[in-house]
Amino acid sequence: MTPFAPAGQFSTAFRNDFATLLRWRRDVRRFRTDPVDPATLARCLDAFTLSPSVGLSQPSRIVRVQSAAMRQAALDNFEAANARALAGYEGDAARKYATLKLAGMREAPVQLAVFCDEATRSGKGLGIQTMPEMLRYSVVSAIMQFWLMLRAEGIGLGWVSILEPEALSAALAVPAGWRLVGYLCIGYPEAQSEEPELQAEGWETRAACPEILER
Ligand SMILES: Cc1cc2nc3c(=O)[nH]c(=O)nc-3n(C[C@H](O)[C@H](O)[C@H](O)COP(=O)(O)O)c2cc1C
Repeated sequence: MTPFAPAGQFSTAFRNDFATLLRWRRDVRRFRTDPVDPATLARCLDAFTLSPSVGLSQPSRIVRVQSAAMRQAALDNFEAANARALAGYEGDAARKYATLKLAGMREAPVQLAVFCDEATRSGKGLGIQTMPEMLRYSVVSAIMQFWLMLRAEGIGLGWVSILEPEALSAALAVPAGWRLVGYLCIGYPEAQSEEPELQAEGWETRAACPEILER
């Protein structure tokens, strides 16, 4: 890592690469099963330490889901939640939903359940008096940085949220006050794409630009 702060802006080459990273990031559900290099993973996990958090509360908590029993519990949880989600759609939408691959939990060599510690006293309440959800948003910010760090190393991340969070928290025996933010499947992607898989599958279309209101 560069030991000094860049003077002024980063180089044009870096900025181009960064834009490419954003363009090719992808949510990955199709993984190769070969292991992720532990040193690379550790370097990417630094993203959690480096990330912004409300009041510097640093509320992210990570459970590495390793054992066959815990992975099965997480997979069962997903499959039940996904079946319930499918039951909420009708007609063409139900038929399409049933074809989507919405998690890589059978294949991903690394699986992390990421929680927000909503009982933390770190940050001393700064910034969460009127908007307590900022603690969760802080975890989201960290996951986002982690996602980009991984992708820069050629490693994919798939964010799974089709889960029953309380049941998963109980299965993983996490402390009271921890709220699930994301179940992250991590590994080398089977393929690269510039297009979100849900767009390629015809589920939804990526907007050309953000909606911005002027007042
Ligand atoms: C908070 C969050 C939760 C998500 N949960 C799921 C999920 O449960 N299953 C899934 O297949 N994708 C999930 N995704 C990935 C989105 O479907 C994906 O980001 C979107 O389709 C755009 O594709 P892209 O990330 O490849 O650009 C999630 C993404 C976010 C940010």
